[in-house]
Amino acid sequence: MNKARASGKVILLGEHAVVHGVPALAAGLDRGVEVEVEAAEKTSIVIGERRSDAGDGSDTVRALEALLAALGSGPVSVRARLELPAGSGLGVSAALGVAVARAVLGVAENAYAGVRERVLAAAAAWEGVFHGAPSGIDAAVAERGGCIQFSRGEGIEPIRLARPVPLVVAVAGPPASTKLMVSQVAHLRERRPALVDKTFEGIRALVSNARLCLEAGDLPGLGKLMDLNQMLLAGLMVSTEDIERTCDIVRRAGALGAKLTGAGGGGVVVALADLDPDPLLLALRRENIECFSATVTSEGKP
Ligand code: MEV
Repeated sequence: MNKARASGKVILLGEHAVVHGVPALAAGLDRGVEVEVEAAEKTSIVIGERRSDAGDGSDTVRALEALLAALGSGPVSVRARLELPAGSGLGVSAALGVAVARAVLGVAENAYAGVRERVLAAAAAWEGVFHGAPSGIDAAVAERGGCIQFSRGEGIEPIRLARPVPLVVAVAGPPASTKLMVSQVAHLRERRPALVDKTFEGIRALVSNARLCLEAGDLPGLGKLMDLNQMLLAGLMVSTEDIERTCDIVRRAGALGAKLTGAGGGGVVVALADLDPDPLLLALRRENIECFSATVTSEGKP
């Protein structure tokens, strides 16, 4: 039996626009997924309490079969343990793809470059079943960890942080389908191309300034850019009342900035703490909002 892990992620700035070629900034989380994989006669996968078997027509099995085909592997049984809520924008699906591919290949997280490319290609085949045409940012950060800039054209650029970035992640609402949210933005772009393209260009400017803030350790500057990104995401119709309310709670508790992270439509909010995350965690828990703190560092694989 082979075991492997992969990280969940937050997108600091740039989700949705990244699908259309704009760079985005993302960071790996300590929490993620852990899997055990064994060769088997028939493919099956158990995620937490949920079991899917070959031939049941589920997306999960179809994704696993696509991943195995990409690796040229025979049937396997997978058991996965999640350390993050699934479907909430924290990259659990991509982390599962990366972890299962690592376990199938029997490779450690610091495998050499050629193997890491195979892991990413297999994770892309897995993600394709759930998300149609993902940008690849989730799998890239699940595989690498640390803090990165990612774009479809330029791939991954590691970011050297001047100081650790203290975040709070809050579950603002029920999970939403990334595929659905991405296709809603694509439809909006078909109907209002000038408006949506202007929004994407605005996000590009925010991402490029946010990178400078990360490299200079300017957390107040980064927070303001996150707030502006949230306004532009709301303009793309991917925010919700729950997301706006959660952003408001953390801002009033002293967050330097807050925004949805991932696809929106529900799911999670990421807030930038002013050094101490406790006041934000307290304010969220008072409202019965599930939350945890996470610190982003430059750590990651080269
Ligand atoms: C999902 O975590 C991020 C999106 O930009 C989709 C993608 O990049 O594939 C919404």
